[in-house]
Amino acid sequence: MSVKVAFIGVGGIAGQHLSSLRTIGGTEIVGLCGVDKKRLAKRQAEFGGETFTDPAAMLKATRPDTAFICLPPFAHGAAELACLRYRVPFMVEKPVAIDMKTAKKILSGVKRTGVMAAAGYMSRYRAGIQRARELLSRDPAGLICGGWVGGFPGKHPWLFQKEKSGGQLLEQTTHIVDLLRYLCGEAESVSCYAADRSFVRGARGFTADCASAAAIKMKSGAVANITSAWLSKAGGTGVYLTLFSRDHMIEFSGWNNDVRITHAGGQHVEQIKGETNIFEIEDAAWIKAVKNGKPTGVLSDYADAVKSLAISLAANESMATGKPVKVR
Ligand SMILES: NC(=O)c1ccc[n+]([C@@H]2O[C@H](COP(=O)([O-])OP(=O)(O)OC[C@H]3O[C@@H](n4cnc5c(N)ncnc54)[C@H](O)[C@@H]3O)[C@@H](O)[C@H]2O)c1
Repeated sequence: MSVKVAFIGVGGIAGQHLSSLRTIGGTEIVGLCGVDKKRLAKRQAEFGGETFTDPAAMLKATRPDTAFICLPPFAHGAAELACLRYRVPFMVEKPVAIDMKTAKKILSGVKRTGVMAAAGYMSRYRAGIQRARELLSRDPAGLICGGWVGGFPGKHPWLFQKEKSGGQLLEQTTHIVDLLRYLCGEAESVSCYAADRSFVRGARGFTADCASAAAIKMKSGAVANITSAWLSKAGGTGVYLTLFSRDHMIEFSGWNNDVRITHAGGQHVEQIKGETNIFEIEDAAWIKAVKNGKPTGVLSDYADAVKSLAISLAANESMATGKPVKVR
């Protein structure tokens, strides 16, 4: 029996999951929900399913086994609450919300109902990340440097507006923040500065931070430095994460998180290429969990993703106040 899947949000990342599900096989798309009717019709032509503009109406009519929630940060809330109401396990794309009030309301519903809920931090499923986690569990990192340094802000319906996306650290660099927690444990406090927006003069409608530098104190006693930027027409360094422990230097680079691990002494070096089909790996784990009714194999659940959100929100608060903020 195929697993019946519905999508709430049918934009870029939804397309990625829809393609991955098709490759994995064993699923049937029963519903597609979005606010842009043209895009809905396009996705329906590609993947099938009935189209809707209201998540609750879709869940009621199609009764899916699971829903993928692929909405921009500002649009979370009603979709998740509808899933909880109809007891539909959901996989929600990162970041799980733009504010803690929304995330907590959803989280308390998840706890109350016991409905399974996962978050789309797909990098956790990478072999290189798992290897680093294994090494760092015995030899913890004392210094972590990471970030997401992209090019100049362009046209996008919501990404470059802080009130809609939450800013780059919350929206994009959240993958690095989540890996920081996954590899090194919880954060204690954050101090973060944003660059003056005058560096991106000429970027129309841009209300996000063009660059930020966050210093994070970890509960382990380690320190981390996370940078984000949409600043330069000459490009950026992209995604990176380097962790230093007594016996290892672990260097992740690029969107695929390719990793080079140098062991103490420098003689022994491991290199692991990042998987190019990471969404298939993540989605296969989720579909298996839905079939079994158990979250075994799911590496990022909703409650955990809320903790990653808390770090970005603390950083945003620190950017606004100029003061260090405790992670709550
Ligand atoms: N895991 C990853 O690597 C990854 C990659 C890309 C995007 N994402 C995340 O996925 C989410 C969506 O990103 P995207 O690139 O697909 O965005 P998008 O703009 O391409 O698509 C957004 C979808 O949400 C729908 N939508 C927009 N506003 C809505 C509203 N108010 N109510 C209901 N539906 C609404 C739109 O109709 C559209 O179908 C973001 O949070 C983003 O961070 C994750």
